[in-house]
Amino acid sequence: MSHDGIRNPRRAERGTRNPRIRSIGLALGAVVVWWAAAASLRGQTPRTVWDGVYSKAQAARGQEAYKLACGYCHKDDLSGGFLDDGVGRATALAGPRAFGSSFADRWRDQSLGDMVYVIASTMPKEAPTSLSLATYVDIVAFLLERNDVPPGEMELAADVTALRGVAMTAGRHSTPAVR
Ligand code: HEC
Repeated sequence: MSHDGIRNPRRAERGTRNPRIRSIGLALGAVVVWWAAAASLRGQTPRTVWDGVYSKAQAARGQEAYKLACGYCHKDDLSGGFLDDGVGRATALAGPRAFGSSFADRWRDQSLGDMVYVIASTMPKEAPTSLSLATYVDIVAFLLERNDVPPGEMELAADVTALRGVAMTAGRHSTPAVR
């Protein structure tokens, strides 16, 4: 919508002469400042799942919900259940076989928002979207815990924008030197 105004320098110039357009220019300026601030914030604090994004208590809640809504297919230990077709398509949710390859590979370069969205919109298989967003988020905390992602002090918020800000990366140490 306002992107043209930001990118087009001629429009910005006109805006300095005409008072009405100038106020639009100011509004755009505010947007640019906000955007830059948000970008630099993102730059300073890259949030990934390795930054302690869920709490132990939350994962425990997630485990209870999981046992009720998911465990009878995926098994309570997340090792994959009776619907597993044997070619890795379904349904180990933790460990090396998770999602046919690995949990990290399945979700690499996606955000927790993507993960919650996929799970909520497809699971439980016979009743997608039947749980609350908070419950899906608790279950995701449990899945993270079982895939060796360490907990922190804060709970993972049931907030789509916040979840989008948390990236799924392969591991805490992504530089070759550390490996
Ligand atoms: C009725 C059996 C059943 C139940 C209950 C069930 N699932 Fe699944 N799940 C499957 C099957 C089968 C697949 C394989 C993909 C497919 O067929 O959609 C799957 C796939 C998945 C995947 C992989 C999706 C992907 O895109 O990689 C995740 C994650 C998942 N389930 C999580 C859950 C969670 C969390 C719950 C509980 C809220 C749950 N499932 C409940 C049967 C089930």
